[in-house]
Amino acid sequence: MSRMSEFESFGVYMHWPFCRAKCPYCDFNSHVRHGGVDEARFLSAYLTELRHFASLAPRRMVTSIFFGGGTPSLMRPATVATILEAIAGHWRVADDVEITLEANPTSVEAENFAGYRAAGVNRSSLGVQALDDSSLKALGRQHTAQEALAALALAKQHFDRVSFDLIYAREGQTAREWEEELRRALGHAADHLSLYQLTIEEGTPFHALHAAKKFSVPDNDHAADLYALTQEITAAHGLPAYEISNHARPGAESRHNLTYWRYGDYVGVGPGAHGRFVENGRRVVTIAEKVPETWANLVEAKGHGVTGGETLTRSEEADEFLLMGLRLAEGIDLSRYEAFSGRGLSTARLSMLQGEGLVAPIGNARLRATPAGMIVLDAVVADLAR
Ligand SMILES: C[S@@+](CC[C@H](N)C(=O)[O-])C[C@H]1O[C@@H](n2cnc3c(N)ncnc32)[C@H](O)[C@@H]1O
Ligand code: SF4
Repeated sequence: MSRMSEFESFGVYMHWPFCRAKCPYCDFNSHVRHGGVDEARFLSAYLTELRHFASLAPRRMVTSIFFGGGTPSLMRPATVATILEAIAGHWRVADDVEITLEANPTSVEAENFAGYRAAGVNRSSLGVQALDDSSLKALGRQHTAQEALAALALAKQHFDRVSFDLIYAREGQTAREWEEELRRALGHAADHLSLYQLTIEEGTPFHALHAAKKFSVPDNDHAADLYALTQEITAAHGLPAYEISNHARPGAESRHNLTYWRYGDYVGVGPGAHGRFVENGRRVVTIAEKVPETWANLVEAKGHGVTGGETLTRSEEADEFLLMGLRLAEGIDLSRYEAFSGRGLSTARLSMLQGEGLVAPIGNARLRATPAGMIVLDAVVADLAR
């Protein structure tokens, strides 16, 4: 990807907020509706909100579209097709646009893959999470390992590009067990993998169990060892980390996620979605109402469901740019940081963090976090941004 497109990329994020069941570790904006979902009503609200964002950020060339969730693979293919047609009606769409849809790997959802492909989806990202049934059960998943692998094989037949997610650093997981699972995963991988350490998110059932000491996760040292092992094995396999938790064969990175991390522009459509884009020379953040039905009511009443957000100051932009960019192996362009903040990074702080092995220069123009720095990135950024 050329340096130019780093600044010119424009993403459209669509959030589908419904799931068949709520996983006990997940704090994404996802909801279960046993009585069913009025898909036609939500489609109509998506189309209305898309129109709103197109009026705020017109004349862009869409380089990526991402259906995330929740569980977008519960959407009817016709709904996805209508949304894609609407996007093409509002903006120009790049010839090589990347269109990703997140899918849960159950057999029911795999039946939709051909329909998504026909609608224009060309990349899928599957939430496989673990490769053995007892771990999947412990994670509260609705599929077996065999079902997940079958869905993955089918996805590879339908989509040009396929990625899948695993969650590691699970309760009781040893380095040996993770190594074995990761090697097996690499055997099934196409050219992209997302490998997340289990995090205990407030408000989830895992959080309550953890607080009650009925559930444990690896301590920091063990988690750091598992992280280092992950870097080593994936790199040796040709899928190095290009971001803290994302691994790809060079050239196969998720363009949509790169837009976030390179601090490009994107609109976020749907309940709880966030957007960040430059409007009249200033970067605007939009945050939508999270509860799906309340969001739909707002969209029906006023054309959008945005209830939060702000216009960022230059220094807020500079801080966000650091936090996002240092997640990437390619690091940040120091002159772009200067352009945002109006000043360079403190040389004293830089040499201190470099001395601690947490950041490293790339030539004269770029700075990156080392793998050790990635693990404590928030603290590194707080130090640099002061
Ligand atoms: C938006 S979620 C969901 C995608 C899809 N609904 C699924 O579950 O397959 C994206 C990914 O975030 C990861 N994730 C969610 N909660 C997590 C947590 N608490 N710790 C680590 N990874 C998590 C999972 O790997 C998941 O696939
Ligand atoms: S992990 Fe995926 S399926 Fe599970 S609740 Fe979260 S979004 Fe839904």
